[in-house]
Amino acid sequence: MKTLVIGAGNMGSAFVKQLHAAGHAVRVTARQADKAAALAAQYPGVSAVAPAGAADGVDVVIVATASSDAVAALRGVGVGGLDGKVVIDITNPLTADYMGLTLGFNTSAAEEIARAVPQAQVVKAFNTLFAQVLAAGADFGQGRQASVFVAADDASAKSTVTTLAQSLGFATVDAGGLKNARYLEPLAGLNIYLGYGAGLGTAIAPTWIHRA
Ligand SMILES: NC(=O)c1ccc[n+]([C@@H]2O[C@H](COP(=O)([O-])OP(=O)(O)OC[C@H]3O[C@@H](n4cnc5c(N)ncnc54)[C@H](OP(=O)(O)O)[C@@H]3O)[C@@H](O)[C@H]2O)c1
Repeated sequence: MKTLVIGAGNMGSAFVKQLHAAGHAVRVTARQADKAAALAAQYPGVSAVAPAGAADGVDVVIVATASSDAVAALRGVGVGGLDGKVVIDITNPLTADYMGLTLGFNTSAAEEIARAVPQAQVVKAFNTLFAQVLAAGADFGQGRQASVFVAADDASAKSTVTTLAQSLGFATVDAGGLKNARYLEPLAGLNIYLGYGAGLGTAIAPTWIHRA
């Protein structure tokens, strides 16, 4: 797939690494051009691009900024460039101390983004994986893969993101419509509590199991 990663921080860097390793075409854009350039330079064929027009011709846009920056970041690539595009919202609307959420119950970061960029097909995914897990890869040993929970209203967009996540080696869980981001964002909050608050560390990830 042709992908655009917006943001060159922890998650953006891990996405660029894994998308490149899986053979996807990767562009990266960031608020600071030098950060995008330094990230792209680590992977042959990955290009750092200016925000304007960055989404033109790509299949999937991954917004890897703080939740509060996501709408501005998407608008920065040009709203026309997002027409019909699959936008993966990986964000968690965290409080400043990372131990709570700034919204929930009757909306979610994903739904707010979808409202702000209605021309895009917004899919909630990857928000329950620590950047360290994404960077290290899906394999947790003993035949176990970390899971990507995928919530979206558009079946085709959900299928695209499911295929993308599986191409990176992750198990996937169909988590229903975009409204269920209201569950996935708190799930990420629990993961952060367990990793940092309870001291389990960042080599953990939530998953769902079925009785054989
Ligand atoms: N870290 C994790 O383990 C983790 C796990 C799951 C989900 N998430 C979610 O993923 C998102 C990113 O987290 P992170 O840890 O990667 O944060 P981060 O390291 O702070 O990276 C965010 C990046 O977004 C860039 N950015 C901000 N506004 C932008 C804009 N308008 N255009 C382009 N780039 C812009 C920032 O640029 P500057 O450098 O200029 O500030 C920064 O490089 C957050 O919403 C977080 O909740 C994180």
